[in-house]
Formats: sequence, C-alpha cells, structure tokens
Amino acid sequence: MPEFSENQACYPFYRAGLVQGLMMDLKSQIDQEKLPRHIAVIMDGNGRWAKQHGKPRVFGHRNGVKAVRETTEAAAELGIEYLTLYAFSTENWKRPQTEVGALMHLLVETLHKEINTLSKNNIRLKAIGQIEKLPEKTYKALLDGIKNTAGNTRMTLVLALNYSAKWDIVQAAGKLAEKAADKVILPGEIDETAFANELSTAGMPDPELLIRTSGEYRISNFLLWQIAYAELFFSPVFWPEFRKQHLYEAIIDYQRRERRFGQISEQVIADKPV
Ligand code: IPE
Ligand code: IPE
Ligand code: MG
Repeated sequence: MPEFSENQACYPFYRAGLVQGLMMDLKSQIDQEKLPRHIAVIMDGNGRWAKQHGKPRVFGHRNGVKAVRETTEAAAELGIEYLTLYAFSTENWKRPQTEVGALMHLLVETLHKEINTLSKNNIRLKAIGQIEKLPEKTYKALLDGIKNTAGNTRMTLVLALNYSAKWDIVQAAGKLAEKAADKVILPGEIDETAFANELSTAGMPDPELLIRTSGEYRISNFLLWQIAYAELFFSPVFWPEFRKQHLYEAIIDYQRRERRFGQISEQVIADKPV
C-alpha cells in the first residue's frame, strides 16, 4: 500500500476514499429485512463540541445542522420510515435567552434552506410538541415546511420542538377525559391503543431504536410512552460530528440484539420466520 503523509497534496483524496470505503463496508452489513421502521435521536453535545473548539455554544448548534442533514439523508436512503429528532425540549427554555434566541433563529434559517431538499428527496416534515408556543417566525416557518412537504411519501422527518414527554402524556389524558365527559368514549374503553391515539405521535409506529449522542445516558423527557420497548444506543460522539457511518453503526448494533418482549430466547427463535 502506498504511504501518504498528511502534507501530501493527494492525502485528502486518499483519506476520503478510505472513509468512503469504510462507510460502504458498514452500510453493506445492514440487513434490509430487519430495519427499524422508526429511529429517534436525542441530538446532544453541541455546546461541549463548541467549547472543545474554543467557540461559543451557538457555533455547535450551527455545526449540528450538517449532522441533521447527513442523518436524514442516510435514514431516507436506507428506507427508514420515520426519523424523529429531539431539537428543543420544553426544559430548554431555561437556557440563557441569547442561546434560545439563536436556536430559534437557526431553526427558521435551516427550515428555509432545507425544505426544497426535503421535497426533492420526497421527505415529509412533521413536528411534535407545543409548537404553537414557539416564537411566531419559527412557528410559521415550521408550518410552511409541514404544509409544503405534506404529500411526500419516502420518509417522515419528525422534529420534536418544545417537546416534553410528560406533557404529551398529560395532554393525551386530557383529551380522553374530554371525550369521556362528552360520552364519545366510555372510561372502560380506554386502553393502550386509545391512549396512544391521543399522543402527539398518533399513527406513527413506536421507535424501535433510540440513539443519544455525546455520552450522556438519560432520556431527558423524550417520548417516554413510545420508547417502552425501544433499543437504546448511546454514542460518545458529539452531535456536530455525527455522520452517516455513526447511524449505520447504531443500526448494526440494533440488528445484533435479540428483542424478546418479555419472552425467553428459545421462544423468540421458535417464532422467527424461516
Ligand atoms: C444539544 O446540544 C442541542 C440542544 C439541546 C438544543 P446541547 O446544547 O445540549 O450541548 P451540550 O449538552 O451542552 O454539550
Ligand atoms: C435533551 O438535551 C434535549 C435535546 C436534545 C433537544 P439536553 O442537553 O437539553 O438534556 P439535559 O438537560 O442534559 O438532560
Ligand atoms: Mg445537552
């Protein structure tokens, strides 16, 4: 193999080739028959990544957009049906006002820039959370994006914005209480399906795979009901550095697991279609 040093002109091309090769190799390890239908991601580590580079936190958020683009593209290429990205939690309002403002502005800018690409790639945009409480410009950009991509069918990209899983559960309970009071539903008819139908994720399959980046091991009020049986994957990578190969790694890891849903291994093996 020829030796290359960092300062040789052709090194970047050689390296890009290597990365491409490794990526293809990872991608080819993915079993198309065992793909999760829905992947959810807690995109974390923007601030720490920026700090590592001696930059303000907003620099990390800006660089996180590239990771969003790559992850969306990779998921769509693979044939994932739903990709849900946790972009802003209800608790995130507690951050310094300047950071919240910059994030809201970045959202508007990104939505304006990316909607055409989403459309070109036949990707539908959806949002979950109390989005009507977002600043007007952000809310409007979001609604426009949702409207303009409503007919797309390849993949649904769900942005969790001003999202809180506890809020989601409480609002579902509230809707059911109203229906019961109006006698549209009887209390005895309230089962898991009726409840799930009132959650913000109604109509979507539960995520089979939940990824959190940046080496944090917590859920931070994200999709509590929906991840009851999700496989959890924690990546040490800070979100701005998350790339296609990291998604492939998570999917490969997911596919190696045995999902038992309370059964024992022998039952799962016996139930497997041959
Ligand atoms: C995730 O990165 C982005 C949002 C929560 C909006 P962080 O901003 O939480 O980055 P860290 O965790 O401080 O590094
Ligand atoms: C979770 O990340 C929320 C989002 C990724 C949008 P945080 O960085 O806000 O979570 P905590 O505060 O560390 O739990
Ligand atoms: Mg964080």
